[in-house]
Amino acid sequence: MPGTVVDAPGAGALSGHQRTVDWVEHPDHPAVELIDQTALPDVERLLRLETVEAVVDAIQRLAVRGAPAIGVAGGLGVALAVRTVPDPADLDAAILALRNARPTAVNLARAVDRVAGVVAAGADAALAEALAIRDEEIASSDSMAAYGIDLIGALCGPAPRLLTHCNTGGLATVTGGTALGVVFALHRAGRLGGVVASETRPLLQGARLTTWELARAGVPFRLAVDGAGPYLIARGEIDAVIIGADRICANGDVVNKIGSYAHALGAARAGVPFVVVAPESTVDPATATGADVEIEDRSDAEVVGFGAVRSAPAGVVTANPAFDVTPADLVTAVVTDRRVVRFAAGETWDDVPLGPLRS
Ligand code: MRU
Repeated sequence: MPGTVVDAPGAGALSGHQRTVDWVEHPDHPAVELIDQTALPDVERLLRLETVEAVVDAIQRLAVRGAPAIGVAGGLGVALAVRTVPDPADLDAAILALRNARPTAVNLARAVDRVAGVVAAGADAALAEALAIRDEEIASSDSMAAYGIDLIGALCGPAPRLLTHCNTGGLATVTGGTALGVVFALHRAGRLGGVVASETRPLLQGARLTTWELARAGVPFRLAVDGAGPYLIARGEIDAVIIGADRICANGDVVNKIGSYAHALGAARAGVPFVVVAPESTVDPATATGADVEIEDRSDAEVVGFGAVRSAPAGVVTANPAFDVTPADLVTAVVTDRRVVRFAAGETWDDVPLGPLRS
C-alpha cells in the first residue's frame, strides 16, 4: 500500500479526528494525510501520503472518495507536487496524473486546475490555494445543512423519514457532509423521523461508511439493500430521498453514485421529494447534460465479490459503471451552500442568484 499508516489502527482510533483529508507540515516531509476509507468500518487508521503517486493511488482505490473530498485531496496533491517533484519538467505530468485520477466528479479537475493556476507564484501560494479549497468545503458543509433542513422541513413536515444513498457525510467532504450533513443537522435539531442507508453496491459506501458515521453521531438508522429503496418508498416508509452529487450539469441533470437513478424513479412514482445536496464546487454549468459526462467504469473484481470473498463464478463478464445520471425532471430541488434550486418549477442555475453562506 503506497502511503504510511500513521495512526494506530483499531476501533475508536479516529475518535476526535475531525478532518477526512488534510495537510501535515514537517520541514522535510510535507504530506497529505487522510482517513483510509478502504479500511472502515473495522479498522480506523490515517494514511500519510508523501508523494504525488501515493495521492493518485489513494484517489483511484477510494482510500479518499466523495466529490468534495477528492477535490481537496487533488488540490493538496498539487501543493505536494510543487514541494516534492524534484525536476520542474515533471511537474505538469504530476498535475495531470492528479487531474485524471478519477473522471466523473467535477470537483477533482476543478480543484487541481485552481491550484495549478497559482503554481507559478511558488510553493507557498499553491499551498495557500489548496488550503483555501479545504476551508471553503468545510464552510460549505455548514451552509448546506442550514439550507437543507429548512427545505426538508418545508417539503416533508416536522419529522421526515429519509432515504440516503452512498456516503455523503464528513468522509465524503472534509467535515460535516452534503446530504448526510442535512441528516445530522435534522437529528441535532430533534427533527429527524428516521433514516435508511442504502448499502451501495459494489463498494458498500452506505453499508460501511454511512453506517459508521451515523453510529458515531448517535443517529438511529436502518440499513437496506439497494433494491429495497424504491419498494420502501412505495410502501410509504420514506418521506424524501436525499443524496449528494458528483457533478450537476447546466440543465440540472445529476450525476451521482450508481443506484441513485433507481431511487429517483421510485420517488417520482410515489410522489415523494427527491432532493440533491451538493456544494457549488460540484455544479458544472460548462457541461450541458448528463450525457456529456464521462462515467467512470471500474473493474470486474468489484462486482464478482467483495474483498477476498468471490460471489460470482470465476471469469464472468461484468458491467460496473460507478455512477448514473438522474434526469433533471426527477429532481425536486438542489441544495447548494449558496442557494436552493427547484428545477421542477422550471428554474435553471441562471435563474437563481447565489445567496450567502449560512451556518
Ligand atoms: O465513488 P465514490 O464513493 O467517490 O462516489 C461518491 C458519491 O457518489 C457521492 O454520493 C458524491 O460524491 C456526493 S458526496 C458529497
